[in-house]
Amino acid sequence: MVSRSIVELKSDINTICSLQSLNNTMAKEGYQKVANKKDLPEGGLFKVEPQDRHIVLSMVNGKVYAMDAVCSHEGGPLEEGSLDGYNLTCPWHYAIFDVRNAKVSDQTVWATDLDSYQVEVDEESGDIYVNLEAGEKGKDKISTQPSAKEEVPETTQQLQEQRRRQDDSGKPSHFNLRLLEKQKVDGTDIMSFKFAKLDEEGQQQQQGQNGKKQLEYSAGQFAFFDIGGVYNDPEGPIRHFTITSSPTEDFIMISTRIRDTPYKKRLSSLEENTTMVKVRGPEGKFTLHEDHSKPAVFLSGGIGVTPFRSMIKYAIVKQLPIKIIMFDSNRNENNILYKKEFDEFAGINKNLKIVYTITEEKEGKSGEEQPAQTPSLSSSNSGTAAWNGERGRIDRAMLARYLSDNDLKDSIFYICGPPVMIKAMQNLIENELQIPKERIKIEEFTGY
Ligand code: FES
Repeated sequence: MVSRSIVELKSDINTICSLQSLNNTMAKEGYQKVANKKDLPEGGLFKVEPQDRHIVLSMVNGKVYAMDAVCSHEGGPLEEGSLDGYNLTCPWHYAIFDVRNAKVSDQTVWATDLDSYQVEVDEESGDIYVNLEAGEKGKDKISTQPSAKEEVPETTQQLQEQRRRQDDSGKPSHFNLRLLEKQKVDGTDIMSFKFAKLDEEGQQQQQGQNGKKQLEYSAGQFAFFDIGGVYNDPEGPIRHFTITSSPTEDFIMISTRIRDTPYKKRLSSLEENTTMVKVRGPEGKFTLHEDHSKPAVFLSGGIGVTPFRSMIKYAIVKQLPIKIIMFDSNRNENNILYKKEFDEFAGINKNLKIVYTITEEKEGKSGEEQPAQTPSLSSSNSGTAAWNGERGRIDRAMLARYLSDNDLKDSIFYICGPPVMIKAMQNLIENELQIPKERIKIEEFTGY
């Protein structure tokens, strides 16, 4: 009896010593206890945040792995992804990472490699330790890898932060929306899609009016659309689009060019009324400023007009006391999106002025200077009537024809369009007109 107790005592002492030594070793080498094996079932994912790092743990074949939890593409939450063998798939656009070394799969090159971390598990207690020391993590990677914090770009951190805020506020961010209607814009390769605003398979705890949650957003924001059935698109199976409808409307509308890509082909073929799409959002800060005493000057290039349609409709319906002047530049008359609507809005609201300009040279008059004219508010969108709006790209002289000194002094300038147009407008506003950066908002149009 006595000798058995001594054996047991020895065993206990050994266990304590070995645990003590494990703890000491880990403390020395920069390991930190982050979780316990009971938090992590086989094939499971578990997020931990030691020292403000975002790390996802995974368990495959009884072994624990640790890697960055923020997707290198656009900040997707990898702990909400799916694990298949060693492959962890991001829930947002399905980038695939190998949990053993955090490298991205060759099939999903729109994301880049993340960092992995060394893991030790105390088999007695089940405690999981992760090595957080810079230079020690990612043993399968080269030692010049930056730390996890440096690896996460600012925009990714912002997106992650925004997502966390949405989650914290309980505001729903994932929706299953029904496609109500799709419409081709005559004479263009643009199509508009209207979706129901109400979620059809929402979580019960997030139910709102009518027993369902709905996508609430600010005019000018965007959302991610997962339409399913998209394969081998080099940009991935999900796209983000500006929401071009106003929050005051009872549908969600997007407009986009239909190009020869797997995503766009699939989008254009979706069946009205029967198709459900997964939408995540809203996101983005390209929204109308709150001090309505300052005018808004919108500089739009082509289909970059989509956030402005949302803001203008919202301002009109809400009767906001704000002056809006939009310069809408398009290749030709046929390409002016929402023109009929804009003209109606401008007809009923004196605070709104829209200046259309077309950049394509007139047939047979190539290179000729066109006289400056007041834009027509009644031009036909068919392209058959004579054009009596502005011609040429938006420039200093054109702005001067429509903006007063006070407008230039106080306005907030919004720029949205393709990258080349944005660069030109930025140069015009910042360098030529010397408008301070705090009064300029820029959004690269993302719906191509
Ligand atoms: S955010 Fe992960 S793939 Fe886009």
